[in-house]
Amino acid sequence: MFAYLGEGDPPPFPGYDCFVAPDAYTFAFKGLWECNWLQGVEGGIDPSHVSFLHRFVGEDPRSVYGQQFSEVVEGTDKKLSQLVADDHRPDIEVEDAEHGLRVYALRQLTGTVRHVRITNLVFPNAFVVPFGNSKAFCQWHVPIDDENHYWYMILYDFAAETDKDLLLAQRLAEVSLPDYRPLRNRRNDWGFDAAEQRDLTYTGMGLDINVHDQWAVESMGRIQDRTVERLGVSDRAVTANRRLLLRSIEAFEAGRPLPGRPVDAASARALTGPAAVDTVTPADGWERAWRDRERDLRAGSPWAGTRDA
Ligand SMILES: [Fe+2]
Repeated sequence: MFAYLGEGDPPPFPGYDCFVAPDAYTFAFKGLWECNWLQGVEGGIDPSHVSFLHRFVGEDPRSVYGQQFSEVVEGTDKKLSQLVADDHRPDIEVEDAEHGLRVYALRQLTGTVRHVRITNLVFPNAFVVPFGNSKAFCQWHVPIDDENHYWYMILYDFAAETDKDLLLAQRLAEVSLPDYRPLRNRRNDWGFDAAEQRDLTYTGMGLDINVHDQWAVESMGRIQDRTVERLGVSDRAVTANRRLLLRSIEAFEAGRPLPGRPVDAASARALTGPAAVDTVTPADGWERAWRDRERDLRAGSPWAGTRDA
């Protein structure tokens, strides 16, 4: 699945969870998106998009295994799609991490309870996000050319083996082979249905949330015209990524090490996790509480073991 195209020996391989997880606990898939790869990455690292793109007008009707945002969040009585739709203005905090960026989306549920969802940029072209209470996935956006790319995803479950046959059937139903082109795409207006938008989904583009993400980044044009964009507070992760990208281009040109690219075995060992949790914590001390939650998830996992987050 991975190839090294540079000069000399390939750099040592990082120890991210998606590579460490045994095959039975994983599921991998890919898809074609008809736009520049950077748009795909920036859609994924933006934690505020979920409040809009993936929301339902009424109840989330999905109850099938493997549907993102359809699990009830532990410690609440709400599905994640509902929870993030009810609070569409999370506080977003971004910090540098060994792998790139760690992005916190914080939603104050009550006076004493906070929802913490962690998104990671794995620089330069991947992200790792939580998927329900015990799963996460890493998704790379790999250019074909400037105007097309493939995303490659490895889903991994900390607690249970994945139902690969079911997940594969769900995904194959949405694409045409051999190029993994989504059936809903720019040629058919992503299957937009105005009646569905009125009654069921925010986008009017079906229940598969991959299509919502695809529409968001394809519809801005194959290469987004960034001369007319106005980034705001909700774009903090995107802004931080742009700064990191510019710093890294400078570093590359000067021959300096790049973030997220291990230069030796020790720096490869430092690239673990990354922690991707979706959890409810006390409002006070949430910084500590999410780490405890992550530690417990690993401690209870048949394969992840403990790791200092
Ligand atoms: Fe999304």
